[in-house]
Amino acid sequence: MRTIIKNGTIVTESETFRGDLLIEDGVIKALGADLCADGAEVIDAAGKYVLPGAVDVHTHMDLQAGAHRAVDDFYTGTVAAACGGTTTIVDHMAFGPKGCSLWHQVEEYHRLADGKAVIDYGFHGVLQHVDEKILKEMGEIAEKEGITSFKAYLTYDFKLSDADMFQLFQQAKKDGVVIPIHCENDGVVNYLRAYYKSQGCTDPIYHAKSRPARCEAEAVGRMLQIAAMAGDAPLYIVHLSTAAGLDEIRRAKKHGQKNVGVETCTQYLVLTEDAYKDPQEGLKAIMSPPLRTEKDCEALWKGLQDGVIDTVATDHCPFNFKKEKQFGVGDFTACPNGAPGVEERLPVMYSEGVAKGRLSICDLVRLLCAEPSRMYGLYPRKGNLQPGADADVVILDPDRKHVLTHADMHGAVDYTCYEGLELQGAIDMVLSHGQVVVKDNQFVGKKGDGRYLKRGKSVLCQD
Ligand code: URP
Ligand code: ZN
Ligand code: ZN
Repeated sequence: MRTIIKNGTIVTESETFRGDLLIEDGVIKALGADLCADGAEVIDAAGKYVLPGAVDVHTHMDLQAGAHRAVDDFYTGTVAAACGGTTTIVDHMAFGPKGCSLWHQVEEYHRLADGKAVIDYGFHGVLQHVDEKILKEMGEIAEKEGITSFKAYLTYDFKLSDADMFQLFQQAKKDGVVIPIHCENDGVVNYLRAYYKSQGCTDPIYHAKSRPARCEAEAVGRMLQIAAMAGDAPLYIVHLSTAAGLDEIRRAKKHGQKNVGVETCTQYLVLTEDAYKDPQEGLKAIMSPPLRTEKDCEALWKGLQDGVIDTVATDHCPFNFKKEKQFGVGDFTACPNGAPGVEERLPVMYSEGVAKGRLSICDLVRLLCAEPSRMYGLYPRKGNLQPGADADVVILDPDRKHVLTHADMHGAVDYTCYEGLELQGAIDMVLSHGQVVVKDNQFVGKKGDGRYLKRGKSVLCQD
């Protein structure tokens, strides 16, 4: 089966050029000018960008979080992803029962995803406690399952201590696995949550006030120091939201610390804590870390431009506004944390980043496609258009304007945080393994066609 995408502007991390992309049996066969492909199905991309399918390395499909469950499962969530130009996800697992082996959630997540996902998917393991058995399991799971990253949380129910983190970092360095970390100072956050509640300050804005920027910066700085003590162990800061946290990373990198990966998410670049002003509407944006200030957004854009931040993901973790989010009325601490974003990321980042001149189109490919793939052992199979890569492709029309609205979206959740945002540029078509899966804003792929990805070593584990 051969397909040729003709006359588009092909985008790599370093250049753009007018040309054709030839796909054979689901894999990129060639790219260049005036390729000849007799008998191939022809897709005309004149006037459009031809990009690698985007890779979202931070989603939470079907997440059980306390009493609530995220409303996108691996079918609806990956349909939404595909419609937003994302053709690969690496999903963060929910916590399992207290004391469980790392294998418990690996098995559970295969049950949740296999046969449902419509695009390719991998998993990050999740750490809930640290002992000899857990440390041994990381290497085993990396070897057998190709799960080469294990997330640690410094807050929530299964927060890990500094001693846990030091041991994890030492083991990660030995095994060649990455430790993605949710960085917030648990002690201060929990004190402030209880304090505001006791004062009757229960509106969504107190979610933000109870998680100050320095809580993130302190935890980021501490993790960088501990990873350095473990010999520059590979760590990856997830969902960075603050200028103060970014300063810590800049400092560490300037002093030569190696093997540091950094992610921010669309929402921390585009939205601010103004979203919490309305006590009802504000529930939609209750997520951790919270939305910040305009100044933080500016600092994060700068971090993307100068390469201190490596990736833009979503932390897609959707709960319905009309249902689960209403638990937060009159008590922000009872609102499930998380917001949707997997479908919005590429169109919003194109419009707010490229069309507004903050990023080049090559930067977009680096931040949403190539670098996430490198960080999590998927490169060069994913995140680029070189011959031999999976033929996951997005055709994007830079001239089409539209208004982002939930009514046009495809996931299971009942809102978008970006309702009414005017967008420059729109996705025309998405291919996964050479098959058209999205056309005219309709999903036309098949349930279960997504393949499980055994991942290799991260670029952070090469020394
Ligand atoms: O509020 C959020 N982000 N929920 C999902 C879990 C996490 O912290 O990444
Ligand atoms: Zn997190
Ligand atoms: Zn998350």
